[in-house]
Order: sequence, then structure tokens, then C-alpha cells
Amino acid sequence: MINRQILNKILEAGIRAPSGDNSQPWRIKIHQNSVSIYCMVDADESYYDYKQRGSFIAHGALVESIIIAAETLGYKVIVREFPKKEEPYLTAILDFKPSVRKRHYLYNAIFERTTNRRKYRDIPLSESHKKMLLDITREYPNYKLILIEDRKDKEKVSEALSFTDRFFLEDKHTHRILFNKIRFIKDDHVLSRTGMHINTLELIPPEKVAIRLFSKWKILKIFNIFGISKMLPKNTARLYNTSSAIAVAVMPGKRSIDFFNAGRYIQRLWLTATESGMAFAPITALPYLASMIEENKKNLISRKHVEDALKADKIIKQTAGIKNNNTIVMTFRLGYADKPTSYSNRLPLEEVLLH
Ligand SMILES: Cc1cc2nc3c(=O)[nH]c(=O)nc-3n(C[C@H](O)[C@H](O)[C@H](O)COP(=O)(O)O)c2cc1C
Repeated sequence: MINRQILNKILEAGIRAPSGDNSQPWRIKIHQNSVSIYCMVDADESYYDYKQRGSFIAHGALVESIIIAAETLGYKVIVREFPKKEEPYLTAILDFKPSVRKRHYLYNAIFERTTNRRKYRDIPLSESHKKMLLDITREYPNYKLILIEDRKDKEKVSEALSFTDRFFLEDKHTHRILFNKIRFIKDDHVLSRTGMHINTLELIPPEKVAIRLFSKWKILKIFNIFGISKMLPKNTARLYNTSSAIAVAVMPGKRSIDFFNAGRYIQRLWLTATESGMAFAPITALPYLASMIEENKKNLISRKHVEDALKADKIIKQTAGIKNNNTIVMTFRLGYADKPTSYSNRLPLEEVLLH
């Protein structure tokens, strides 16, 4: 039977994994020598978690961290992905086998990894960093990593990706979901251990004031008459444009298991970037929204938003040279930046365990 203290340490490392809006959409059941991991379907009800794809990516990241921590603490992990057809939200069963203790070179990065939403330094990626990320990608034959570095292309893609900043200021459902995830106070309450604290968004002071004001839909609607929803995304695009590269990770599949495995790959990339001093921040809302629209859910949002989202998505796909049969796993900023001013919180392990 696996030592419970060691297992807790391994799982603590796992739950540091990233998840959309810090929803932490996982619950874990401990057995004798294994754990079952369940996806919480209601944890993220945004359009951006269509078919729980974002959550499955987060689960893949969780499992990858568990594997790295387990190796460091003397266990090998056998992963059985989606092992029961009748339980589509049982994402994995992990079996732990005793093994030689070997500190994994990415172990520390598990605790240092963060979404860095600051302004980046607007300098090119070093050749050795680029090679590192592309070498990792080669270890995962299903994935392709496209780095958009050309200034003009970066500008185009940054502007296209900023569409979702306009969308959340104009779409009532998305506005409600997002503001449910933003925490304006920091305390020890369980609620503040999920979601995103306002400081982690790294807004400049006027934006911080505005975001509080715009949390009220009625007030926001008045500001929108004067075009605020179209003005703010311009700042976002400028911010994205300071990245050394806008990266796009793509894969051929669309099944739940494809997104889960993609999450393992993304976590590997993210930890490697962290370990070598690169800043990393996902900007995934647009490609996720576009795939929801393309898969016939367009009636949920306005016709104008459908049109503009698809137009923006097309710009990204064309610039990145993505073929029709490929799915975007994640778009993200890569580069160099100061450390974030604030870090995300997590539920304590006790709250994540199923008894
Ligand atoms: C699938 C996925 C999608 C994400 N999309 C975005 C995004 O569009 N914009 C963003 O700022 N952060 C995004 N994130 C980052 C999460 O908000 C972040 O992981 C979470 O708040 C926890 O913070 P941390 O990564 O600093 O630990 C995403 C993360 C995942 C796993």
C-alpha cells in the first residue's frame, strides 16, 4: 500500500496544475495503490469549456505533474485514461508502483509554474529556448507547435485573440461567468481558493477601477453605448504583442482523450518554459469559442459575435498555417517578463478528495 504521506505530497503537487479560470475541475478518490480522477462537470460552465475540453486539458496537466512528483518520491505511475465507457467523467485511474527515487528535473517547476499575464519584454526568444520547446514537441508525435514571431503576424494574431475581451464585455452569459470567477478580496474562505484574484490579472490601475465598475452589467451596458467594449481590447492586443512569440499548439483529434493527452503535453511545455526562465500565459478563449460555434452551437450567441469570432479564428489559423483537420489545443504567450505580482490560490487537498 502506498504510504499516505507520500501520496499526499504527490497529489499536492498535482493540484498545483493550471485550469481554465482556476476552476480546479477535479476530485480524487484514493484506493489502496491507485487513485481515480473525476472531472467536475459544473466547475466551469463557460463557453470556453465546451464539451469539457478545457477541463480535460487541465486533467492532463494534473496527471503529468503527478507523474513527475511520483518519480521524484519513488513511484512509477501507470495511467489508464478514460478507463470506463459508462463513466465519461472518470478521466483516469493512476496505479502507483514502487520505483527508484529520482529527482525529476521538472519537479521544482511544478511549484513555480504560473500564468504570467504581465507585459513581456518584447525581445526575441533565444534560439536555445526555442529548440528546447520544439524538441519536447518532437517527443509527442501528435502535436505541432507553431511559434508566431514575425512582428506583423504577431500584431495580426494579437488583435484577433483580443476579440474575446470585447466579447465578455458584450455577451451577458460570458460576463456573468467571468465575473463569478474574479475575486476582489483575498481571504481564507473556500470561494477565494478557486477562481482568479484580481491582482493575478495584472491590470494597470485604470483597468482595475474599470473592471470593478464593469462587473455590474447594467453599468457596463451604458459604457458600451460609448464604445468601451471596443476600446479595451486594443490594450489587450498591445499587451499580447509584447510577447516574444504567440504560440499555437495543434493536434489532429477532438476526442476527450485527445484533450486529456494534450494537457499532458502542454504541462510538459509549460514546466520546461518555467524551468528555463520563460514566461507563459494561455490565451485560449477565442479558439475554444470558435470550435463551439463551428460545432453548431452558434444560436447561443449573437450573429455579429459569431461572425467576428469566426473571422478572428480564421486569421489565427491562416497566419499559423493550420490545416482544417487540425484542432487548436492552446494558444499562448511566450517570452520574458518580471515575476507576477500575485499568484493563484488552490483548494486544500482535503477538499479535493472524495471520501
Ligand atoms: C485549458 C486552459 C485554458 C486557459 N485559458 C486561459 C485564458 O484564455 N486566459 C488566461 O488568462 N488564462 C488562461 N488559463 C490559465 C488559468 O487561468 C490559470 O491556470 C489558473 O488561473 C491558475 O493560475 P496559475 O496557472 O497561475 O496557477 C488557462 C488554463 C488552462 C489549463
